[in-house]
Amino acid sequence: MAVYKILVDPDPVLRQKAVPVKNINAGILRVLENMRDTMYAADGVGLAGPQIGISKRIIVVDPGDNLIEIINPEIIQSEGEQTGSEGCLSLPGKVGWLKRAQKIVVKGLNPQGENIELEASDSLAKILQHEIDHLNGILFADKAIKMRTESI
Ligand code: NI
Repeated sequence: MAVYKILVDPDPVLRQKAVPVKNINAGILRVLENMRDTMYAADGVGLAGPQIGISKRIIVVDPGDNLIEIINPEIIQSEGEQTGSEGCLSLPGKVGWLKRAQKIVVKGLNPQGENIELEASDSLAKILQHEIDHLNGILFADKAIKMRTESI
């Protein structure tokens, strides 16, 4: 198990557009494994490559009961609207309220290199949109309609 240091805003890597993964090799699989360990160690529900300084399009998500790892994720359908609060390991102590799509379909590759299509709604849809935003250099605070800073 290896835990990465999580980059915190305003680290410039968080603002870069991450590049797609071309080959799912041993190095990428190791990064995914370490991202998973890092997410769990930090008590997070999701983590994107740029947050650990790796500007590649990879995310890990766990809404509480199941680990989802997606390489080159892309939202291909979205509908509806939900408003809810979000936090981010890269913006410690901050909470924001955002509008997100209620339901999305994400396509990408699993760690085995197979094409996957995942339908998600409610909180899983919210987490996936948040993590995919990270791959485009977007932080939730950019989109928040209201922000609060909690004393840590
Ligand atoms: Ni985040």
